[in-house]
Amino acid sequence: MMINGREGRALWFEKGKIKFIDQRKLPYKLEYYTAETVDDCCFAIMDMVVRGAPAIGAAAVYGMVLGVNDLEKTAYKLKKTRPTAYDLFYAVDYMLDNIKNCKNPLDAANAYVEDIVDKCHKIGLNGEILIKNNMKILTHCNAGALATVDWGTALAPFYVAHRKGKKFFVFADETRPRCQGLLTDWELEQEGIPHVVIADNAAGFFMKNGEIDMVITGADRITANGDFANKIGTYEKAVLAYENDIPFYVAAPVSTFDKNIKSGDEIIIEERGREELAVINNYKIMPDYTKVRNPAFDITNHKYVTGYITEKGVFEKPCF
Ligand code: MRU
Repeated sequence: MMINGREGRALWFEKGKIKFIDQRKLPYKLEYYTAETVDDCCFAIMDMVVRGAPAIGAAAVYGMVLGVNDLEKTAYKLKKTRPTAYDLFYAVDYMLDNIKNCKNPLDAANAYVEDIVDKCHKIGLNGEILIKNNMKILTHCNAGALATVDWGTALAPFYVAHRKGKKFFVFADETRPRCQGLLTDWELEQEGIPHVVIADNAAGFFMKNGEIDMVITGADRITANGDFANKIGTYEKAVLAYENDIPFYVAAPVSTFDKNIKSGDEIIIEERGREELAVINNYKIMPDYTKVRNPAFDITNHKYVTGYITEKGVFEKPCF
């Protein structure tokens, strides 16, 4: 990923500590958060210093390195942080399975992270084929390099297409309440990809006016029948795309596919706190008496999905 003209990553392990780009501060400040303990790492996941399913998985493998002296307890703590993204559980179980066979637990964690970056690059190569010159493409939330360590899932095809010289335009949903659309805006700005941010409730307007040719989103968990959880608001974008005959693609690596769950009905949806809706940049936008509900994800039925962009190719049905 480009960060102020240089290649960088969303997180890495250095001198016994995990370093994260602090995504709570972007796009206004580029600051870093250091996790020295398992509890710091859990905090980083829960408070969304790091976010996005594959990046949470990467944080978790390094968290397992920090907590190597009591793996069962560390695994338990990490798995309690956020319930919806399958990558977290996949990554912790990967470390439980692989750590014993490695001389240094960091080797297992680094191998996991390099593999996820490689898979995301392949998602980019496979998804790029879908992008034609002059297309206008909508994306929701941030499924870019910040969300995956590098390359991204939904945004990876954009990076590959752009670097190949293709001309296209991106619509980025603002994605209330956390405004991850501004992270997408920041990433696309860094890469020089033409785009705009739109209010979440404007997507239907642009679809109906023929201004969107394709939708690509990421996923937090894809079940055996192809239903998937992703950032709240994804479901309504998928229904709108279906209604307007616009192809809708989901981009994700194998670590996001949960074959143990039959359908989206079984996915646990995280509900987050009131502050995320009621306060923006320390400014109260709602009176104290206002009650809110804040589900972080929703479920989209597989019938709305045109295809799944994975590291193995683009498929009409989930590929395990
Ligand atoms: O709550 P977040 O910001 O962690 O949610 C992120 C998303 O919903 C992403 O679309 C998903 O994790 C895929 S990231 C490549």
